[in-house]
This record gives sequence, C-alpha cells and structure tokens, in this order.
Amino acid sequence: MIGYTTFRKAKIRYSDEGKGRALVLVHGFPFNLNVWEEFSAELAKHFRVITLDLPGFGESENIGYVHSMELMAQCVKEVMDNLGLRRYILIGHSMGGYAGLAFGELFPDNLRGFVMFHSSSYKDSDEKKIDRERSVETIKKKRKSFIKVFVGNLFAPQPQTPKGALNSAIGNTGSPFRGLGLYLKKVQEIANSASARALVAATEGMKNRKDREIILRFAQYPVLFIYGKKDKILNLETMLPQTETPADKEVLILENAGHMGFYEAQEETLNAIIKFANRCFRMRVE
Ligand code: MLT
Repeated sequence: MIGYTTFRKAKIRYSDEGKGRALVLVHGFPFNLNVWEEFSAELAKHFRVITLDLPGFGESENIGYVHSMELMAQCVKEVMDNLGLRRYILIGHSMGGYAGLAFGELFPDNLRGFVMFHSSSYKDSDEKKIDRERSVETIKKKRKSFIKVFVGNLFAPQPQTPKGALNSAIGNTGSPFRGLGLYLKKVQEIANSASARALVAATEGMKNRKDREIILRFAQYPVLFIYGKKDKILNLETMLPQTETPADKEVLILENAGHMGFYEAQEETLNAIIKFANRCFRMRVE
C-alpha cells in the first residue's frame, strides 16, 4: 500500500507491505523508495516493511535547500509515528545509513536493530567535502551527466558473460530477481528522476554531517554491517574499523558486490537480514 503523510508542511510518500514486526528501509542517494521494490517484496514475506521517499526524492517534496541527516531522520520518525509503529529495525543504504545514525542519536529507543548497508559512521574528509562542492556545481550545470557518472560507479564490474550464462544476465533464472542488466536500467531511471534541487540539498546534507562513530559505540541494539569488496564509493578497508565498535555486531562482506548489494548479492543479503532481524526481535527488551 502506498500512503502519504506530511512532514514540515511537505508531502512525504511511503509504502507499507507485509505483516508482523516492522522494518524500515531508508534509501541512498540519489534514489527513492522504488529502489527497494524487489528486495522489500521479499522481506515483506516475513515482516512488515516500510519504505519512504526521503525529502525531495520520488514523490516527496523538498523542505529546504539543505536536507541534513537529522532532517531525514525526523522524516523517517514522522512516517513511523504516523503508522503507530514504536519499535523497529532500520536498514539504511549508504546515505540512508547516515540518516539512520542520526536517527540512532535522536530516537534510540525506537530501534531494535540497525543495518548499515554500504554505509559509514565517519564524517566526510576535507577532500571529500571539496568533492561534494564540485558535485554541487556539476549537478547545477549538467545534472544528467552527473547521474550517469554516479550510477556508473555503483555496481561492481561484471565478469564477461559466457553464452550459457546469458540467461542469468538477462533475468531468465526463475529467481524472484531480474538480471543485473535490467536492474542497471531501473536504477538509472530512478536516479534520473531526481531533481537538481533534491540532489543538491542531499549532497549539502551529506557534506555537513557529523561523525557518528560514537552512536555505534553506545548502540543498545545489534548492528549488522554489509559491505561490498568492490565498492568504488565506500572503500572496504576504510570502512572496516568502525565494524569493531558496537557491542553486538555482525559483519557481512560481499565478495562480488560494489555499492548495491541488494541487487548484486540479493539472496545473500536477504538471508543475512532475515536472520539478523529475527535475532533482534527475539532479544528481550529491558
Ligand atoms: C549514497 O550512495 O547514498 C551516497 O553515494 C553516499 C555518499 O555519497 O557518501
């Protein structure tokens, strides 16, 4: 079911599927809730699954000229409060994980577990901030080419497909997931639908975000980290130290994935999340 709520006078779109304990999936940059379509349908066989369009993306309206991670976290809280949900697991993809950490700072009591899906608790380095400034200039002048380059870096290079394997590349595997080639097109379309204003507001928000390793350190809930060995956006070696931080943690390293594990390693990431979520929900809450 698709629904709408209002947050700071802006319309916000969300989806709500399945029954039982709740998960909320928070998309990364520059996507919207459609990026989770197949993955959330699988999770909804086990849980109640909420997804949303962060401000400015999909059908959600822009709120300001900078969309901070705190603002995104408050938007997630609004959607969940509106549905009457109090305790859930937050799964944040990349920028969605940055927003998830802000959520963990603002509303720790609402979390039963947290999945950092290709995400980082570290703030931007000075170099990265300069990069973001360049991105803002490119987005303003050449939005489409910015998106093209960005999307080109998301997936790990695919091994040359021998003839016999072509079926899996084009999606005739009988699996619930279509082939990666089709996904690339879908991801491109979703990314292309983002307006320059939304892209700039999110980029500024990411640039200004705080370091939040401390949120992981004091997390009172289990944390699952998922990283791709071939991620060109978040380098695995740089990401690993933070995985030591939480008291209760799990780490999944995807051998052949880049930044889009929920497409590139669907079965593996689904199984890990289902197992993790069941464990979180079985734990006693004081
Ligand atoms: C994302 O995938 O959400 C962003 O690329 C993360 C980032 O740029 O830091």
